[in-house]
Amino acid sequence: MALFLDTGDINEIKKFINMGIIRGVTTNPTILFKSGVTGGMEGVKKTSIEIANLIAPNPLSVEITKNESPEEMVQEAIELSKWADNIVIKVPFHGPDGELENIQVIHELETKHNVRVNVTAMMSAQQCFLAAMAGATYVSLFCGRVNNMGYNSVEELKKLRKLLDEHKLNSKIICASTREVLNVVEWLGAGGHIVTVLPDLLNKMIVHPYTKETVQMFLDDAKKL
Ligand code: G3P
Repeated sequence: MALFLDTGDINEIKKFINMGIIRGVTTNPTILFKSGVTGGMEGVKKTSIEIANLIAPNPLSVEITKNESPEEMVQEAIELSKWADNIVIKVPFHGPDGELENIQVIHELETKHNVRVNVTAMMSAQQCFLAAMAGATYVSLFCGRVNNMGYNSVEELKKLRKLLDEHKLNSKIICASTREVLNVVEWLGAGGHIVTVLPDLLNKMIVHPYTKETVQMFLDDAKKL
């Protein structure tokens, strides 16, 4: 799996799909807003279906938009999951006021409703471990935000991967909130199964000034042959 793209920008997704270097896409309401999606839930649906079709059978993560009663969250998640077979539903680990019902929602979606869940907005190995225990297919550790708070995301990833492996939990770790090119290899090396990377960082991973110079040398010398 290794690389997902963290964007709602269709052109960027097409570009990297055509290169064959991404295995999924993640979105959230903030990303969709920044990518210019408008028109309320109809706009979200249209864009999500377009992305899902573009990347199928690879997964597209779409986030629920309300943190209300467990019944309402389950209902919204089921509705979103019907948009395409390869849609995974992002559910925040808990609500904005620390509401715990989200964990029950995650468990029910995975075990009773056959909906794959990507548990999102997590900042520690312990949160991800509990999300994995609840049955999440993916657990998203917001590594960039972990670092921003002064903690070490690499240490959290090592602890988390060890816990998942030792307890035979099948959840895949998505390392999210990329900040630097270095994050990708560093987080994969620390135990992340997947890094969801911003398009801009993926561009920067590819192009190297010394590669440019070397290729120019080959082209110049080819003319002299
Ligand atoms: O995938 C989650 C990610 O988009 C959050 O990133 O930059 O808001 O921390 P950021």
